[in-house]
Amino acid sequence: MLDRINERPKDRILEVMNLFRSDPREHKIDLGVGVYRNAEGVTPVMRAVKTAERKLWERQETKVYTGLAGDPAFAEAMRSLVLGDAVDPLRVAAAATPGGTGAVRQAFELVRVENPGATVWVSNPTWPNHVSILRHLGMKMREYRYFDGDTRSVDFPGMMEDLAALGAGDVVLLHGCCHNPTGADLKPAEWQAVADHIATIGATPMIDIAYQGFGDGVEEDAVGLRTVVRSCSEALVAASCSKNFGIYRERTGLLIGVAPRADRRSGVQAALNHLNRQNFSFPPDHGARIVTEILVDSGLRAEWMSELEEMRLCMLGLRERLASELQRVTGSNRFGFIAEHRGMFSRLGVSPERVERMRERHGVYMIGDSRMNIAGLNDDTLPIVAQAISETCT
Ligand code: LMR
Repeated sequence: MLDRINERPKDRILEVMNLFRSDPREHKIDLGVGVYRNAEGVTPVMRAVKTAERKLWERQETKVYTGLAGDPAFAEAMRSLVLGDAVDPLRVAAAATPGGTGAVRQAFELVRVENPGATVWVSNPTWPNHVSILRHLGMKMREYRYFDGDTRSVDFPGMMEDLAALGAGDVVLLHGCCHNPTGADLKPAEWQAVADHIATIGATPMIDIAYQGFGDGVEEDAVGLRTVVRSCSEALVAASCSKNFGIYRERTGLLIGVAPRADRRSGVQAALNHLNRQNFSFPPDHGARIVTEILVDSGLRAEWMSELEEMRLCMLGLRERLASELQRVTGSNRFGFIAEHRGMFSRLGVSPERVERMRERHGVYMIGDSRMNIAGLNDDTLPIVAQAISETCT
């Protein structure tokens, strides 16, 4: 059997990560994979995480199995962070997963098991792994327009036009904030219109939230998601702690199922537990405990919030500086949208050939669809990148 196995299609993001690592040039610049980097180019362990880990190390007496859904305290702390008071907690089922990707995968699988005919609607474009997992699971998928290549903002009329074909029982995948790969987010009134449409059709919203706190703030970034869960009778939410707690390799995520009524919660919880058991049994616990420790301790929480805010403001500053440097070197406001986007990513909207040229000539690495990770810039590299974009893309 093993001698018959062929190569798999390459993951666009991981491919760039590997290309960057194997480039011997000293002055290469990594704007590829979505990890936060500080001004020194380091992805640091957050201070609050260090403290939480130390406390955990001192206090933890056992590493025996948790429950299939992970530690209930983690689910509760995350429920409150993500959903706030948007829905009655008695309607909320949740299970810890290996990272946000684990939550996405479990959510899709839940849909496949419970509603095998459902079509999952994804934004065009979306995080490539959404599409890849749906294909892997053999699920039906359709795209809705999302990004206007001219304005580099959300094509809201196009989105609603496409979602007019939504069917009852279909699933609409939305990015909670900091849309990946475009950086263009829905406005509050647009969230409400999408939510109302999904509710009217009787479809199920699924929200992937991987960057809460990276856009406009922890609470602000959850506004759209909360609008949806308030307006629809049920919802799935895949939440990641990788980025906002900087614990990428700990694989810490949560899948939330908001049941239509409190008396349907236990069925949803049982389904989430069962899925975990089939796929990996017990979810990873270390990262979940760090997050819980931080969220329930007011001092640690305040420290985490201020670090997260530092990161957010740093990315916002980089956006503004890159947009103005590009205005200076190109003499036009063509790249002004970079300052309007939110989160780690902006899609430049240039061809894969130009992206490759930037890599070859200037050692600037971004994803082939021209998504760049703003957090990969710093004061030294920003003018170089602006020059490279100007030379290659104008
Ligand atoms: C990204 O989009 O770069 C991150 O979410 C990392 C990943 O797993 O693709």
